[in-house]
Amino acid sequence: MLPLRVEDQAIGPDLLQLSAAIEVSSVSVTIADMTANDAPLSFANEAFLKTTGYSRDDIIGRNCRFLQGEDTDPEAVRAMHNAICAGESLKIDILNYRKDGTPFWNNLHLSPVYDARGVLSAYIGVQHDVTDERAAQEMETHRQRIEALGRMAGGLAHELNNMLQPMLTLPQLVSDSLPEGAVEAREDLAVLEQSARDARDLVADMLAYTRVSKSGEEALPAQQAIEQALKIVERTLAGRVGVRFYTNTSEALKITRLSQGSLQQILVNLALNAADAMGSKGHVDIVLEQHADGGALMRVRDTGSGMPPEVQARIFEPFFTTKPIGEGAGLGLHVVRDLVRHAGGEISVISEPGQGTTFLIHFPPATAVEPKE
Ligand SMILES: Cc1cc2nc3c(=O)[nH]c(=O)nc-3n(C[C@H](O)[C@H](O)[C@H](O)COP(=O)(O)O)c2cc1C
Ligand SMILES: Nc1ncnc2c1ncn2[C@@H]1O[C@H](COP(=O)(O)OP(=O)(O)OP(=O)(O)O)[C@@H](O)[C@H]1O
Ligand SMILES: [Mg+2]
Repeated sequence: MLPLRVEDQAIGPDLLQLSAAIEVSSVSVTIADMTANDAPLSFANEAFLKTTGYSRDDIIGRNCRFLQGEDTDPEAVRAMHNAICAGESLKIDILNYRKDGTPFWNNLHLSPVYDARGVLSAYIGVQHDVTDERAAQEMETHRQRIEALGRMAGGLAHELNNMLQPMLTLPQLVSDSLPEGAVEAREDLAVLEQSARDARDLVADMLAYTRVSKSGEEALPAQQAIEQALKIVERTLAGRVGVRFYTNTSEALKITRLSQGSLQQILVNLALNAADAMGSKGHVDIVLEQHADGGALMRVRDTGSGMPPEVQARIFEPFFTTKPIGEGAGLGLHVVRDLVRHAGGEISVISEPGQGTTFLIHFPPATAVEPKE
């Protein structure tokens, strides 16, 4: 086949223009030579090199499977193998890796090129990096799940509250009718009533967490909202680590464009990461202060493993995780940053291996809020 390279003077003016166009195209384009053994790449445009981080010298003459790695789905590789053996075209999303090891989702379109005699001479591959779209999709699915859970919790809460009514009111009535000396029985009834109250509070917390309040309509009172959120955080941590909350701000400090549910999601994600990093012992400290600009500054501090700079640099990337397969999706901090930015805020991290980690979240004052991204 013709090697489609701009610098090749042997090809005619039309082809030269065509290859120049492909070269500057914003989508990645590769061509594999099907007349040679193992379908080596004979061409890759600039966009492909930019996306993957490889140089032309690294890849020309090699089969494109060098992009695959540890978590690439073998089913997807088999599907490509079968399509190529059959000379058919194929569209597929496959997890690939850049030269520096970063994973990315590649939406790949493979098409066979037949010569005038009907012989398969080449394959053309068109690649799109769809990592951000897939992350957005996962977040949307997650949001829908929370929303469905919210609807279900709403229905359940109503019924549960009805069922709890007798347990909330009867113990007192029965207690009043007991003879003076029935101290133990009264204590038992008080325990019963307290349990019913706890159950009612739990239902209320669940509702606050799952309710999809429209962020931005009402400002959140920072201190109160954090205290409320910490109830859910503590339940989620289930005693793995303790949580302490410190603040010296006035109760008037507000966070705008952030819903109670989003604040809870932020704190749950940060606290779960902290618990993982601390090997489930110690405390997560949450500190709320007023920032010099009048906004809110929230710090979430742990005394866990800390992170080396190369990990810190990537923690907000979608799908970046250092946890074993099945334990971390690598989405927690991506979601956190998204929620913080939606509120016009910014998140940063200070960490050192062995010295723990502090996340700093700055929410601007009510008047200065411009959502980012
Ligand atoms: C033109 C062309 C482009 C390709 N691009 C990619 C790619 O971007 N990512 C990838 O994982 N595989 C890509 N492949 C598929 C692999 O090269 C290879 O065909 C696949 O891994 C199945 O074959 P194997 O089972 O022998 O590895 C491409 C194949 C061709 C022919
Ligand atoms: N407090 C922390 N201490 C040390 N490392 C952390 C801390 N928080 C995050 N990390 C690092 O950042 C990575 C990304 O965190 P992120 O919450 O986005 O994903 P994850 O926890 O791996 O998975 P999940 O999607 O389940 O949250 C973690 O895998 C971990 O390496
Ligand atoms: Mg996490």
